[in-house]
Amino acid sequence: KRHLISAADLSRDDALLVLDTAEELAQIAGRSIKKLPTLRGRTVVNLFFEDSTRTRISFEAAAKRLSADVINFSAKGSSVSKGESLKDTALTLEAMGADGVVIRHGASGAPYRLANWVRGSVVNAGDGTHEHPTQALLDAFTMRRRLGDLEGRKITIVGDVLHSRVARSNVLLLDTLGADVTLVAPPTLFPVAVDTWPCQVSYDLDAVLPKSDVVMMLRVQQERMNAAYFPTVREYSRRYGLDAARMAALPEHAIVMHPGPMNRGVEIAAEVADSARSTIVEQVANGVSARMAVLYLLLGGSEPAIGTEVSQ
Ligand code: CP
Repeated sequence: KRHLISAADLSRDDALLVLDTAEELAQIAGRSIKKLPTLRGRTVVNLFFEDSTRTRISFEAAAKRLSADVINFSAKGSSVSKGESLKDTALTLEAMGADGVVIRHGASGAPYRLANWVRGSVVNAGDGTHEHPTQALLDAFTMRRRLGDLEGRKITIVGDVLHSRVARSNVLLLDTLGADVTLVAPPTLFPVAVDTWPCQVSYDLDAVLPKSDVVMMLRVQQERMNAAYFPTVREYSRRYGLDAARMAALPEHAIVMHPGPMNRGVEIAAEVADSARSTIVEQVANGVSARMAVLYLLLGGSEPAIGTEVSQ
């Protein structure tokens, strides 16, 4: 039984296999073949304890396009509100049969716990501030489509790194793929252990932009932001927001990314988000191909082609 819980679960060969498979699947979809029979008879459970628009919908679309049966579970409106635990919720869904369980949870590490309780493969769809590996895969897929091989490419990730599972998964995957990642944030918005991450760190966005092939803006998680992190949102925006003037400092070929949801006017100006350099809508479309590839490689054969074992 194998799982995708961290971007670190993927070797370079694994990551390239997912990206190449996603490309093949995207090309099949481009030929107007909307549905493949690959996962017929398999069941995928989408277990969402935290809100989501893009990830939830794209996992559902991905599983359906591979002909899997899909069970969607949202904590809101379920017996979780009566105090039912993650374990009992998981065992209830397990009793209905699940070959794959896609989980989003507010607690970092929840997918590791789940992997000990269910027979199927677990896919992390975002756990707390820990990881979001399929977001990193769809981001890398988008970068490869726009820029080709990522070896030596300069990727700048900007903003609220402290609270961002997207940043951690991207740093791990992009390092595996040979890219050169720089994180930019105010000093208070870096995790304490960032110096152990395989990337550079900077506080100066204007110094880094002219050398970037990609600039990825992170959502300012305002619900967790207070004066201890940054004086005001306006001040944050002035120092670390991507507006049209800053975008003009990027090289001609550079692209602008954001995982969504965005705070327009805070970390990214509306005119930047809607510009020709922005891949934000493309990222959402690519998410379906990347997640199809993950489900196909974990659930498609008798032996999963990617992922990692979780020790009991
Ligand atoms: N990027 C992302 O994970 O978006 P959702 O929270 O809408 O799924």
